[in-house]
Amino acid sequence: MTIRLGDIAPDFEQDSSEGRIRFHEWLGDSWGILFSHPADFTPVCTTELGFTAKLKDEFAKRGVKAIALSVDPVDSHLKWIDDINETQNTAVNFPIIADADRKVSDLYDLIHPNANDTLTVRSLFVIDPNKKVRLTITYPASTGRNFHEILRVVDSLQLTDNYKVATPANWQDGDEVVIVPSLKDETEIAQRFPKGYRAVKPYLRLTPQPNK
Ligand code: BEZ
Repeated sequence: MTIRLGDIAPDFEQDSSEGRIRFHEWLGDSWGILFSHPADFTPVCTTELGFTAKLKDEFAKRGVKAIALSVDPVDSHLKWIDDINETQNTAVNFPIIADADRKVSDLYDLIHPNANDTLTVRSLFVIDPNKKVRLTITYPASTGRNFHEILRVVDSLQLTDNYKVATPANWQDGDEVVIVPSLKDETEIAQRFPKGYRAVKPYLRLTPQPNK
C-alpha cells in the first residue's frame, strides 16, 4: 500500500525488541518517527540506530517517539542492539519492530522489489498526534539518513501547526520564516506576528521565528 502525505498512518500490532506493539496505542498523543532499515548486523544501519539513540533528548523536547523496523526477528534485534550499544557508544532506547512476516512492510510499502525483493528499504515516516503522515522519505540502502534533517522537518511542521508559518529553503532554527500564503487578514497578521514582517513580494512575507 502506498502511503501519501495526509493519510492516516496504518495501525498494526507486531512484535518488537520491547515486546508486542499496538502502534496507535503506543504512539498515544505523541509525534512518531517510524523508520525501516534493510537488515540487522549491517554497517550503515548500525550507525543510524546508534545516532537515533543519541538523539533521545532532542526527540523528547519535540514530543516525538522513534520506532525502527526490519524483517529480522526479535532475537536477532536483541543481539544486534548489544553491538549497536558497544560500537556506537550509546544505549538503544526505542523499539525495533520484528517484521519477519512482513505485515508492517506490506502495509507501509517498505519492500521495493526492483531494489531488493527481500529487504526493507530505508523509508521514514513522520506521523503527527492525529496519526496523520506528514513526511515520507525513502533512501537507498547504501546511504544513511541525516537525522538532523528529520528533526529540522519536525521543527518546521510544529511551527506550521502552531504559528501559521512555513520555512524557507535551508531554514535553520532561529532563521526568518514565511507567513503562509492563506493568511491575508492584516489584523490577524499583526496579532500573530507582533514583531512585524517584511514583504519582499506580496506572496513572500518574512517574519522573525515566532517562538524565539
Ligand atoms: C548497511 O546498512 O550498511 C547496508 C545495508 C544494505 C546494503 C548496503 C548497506
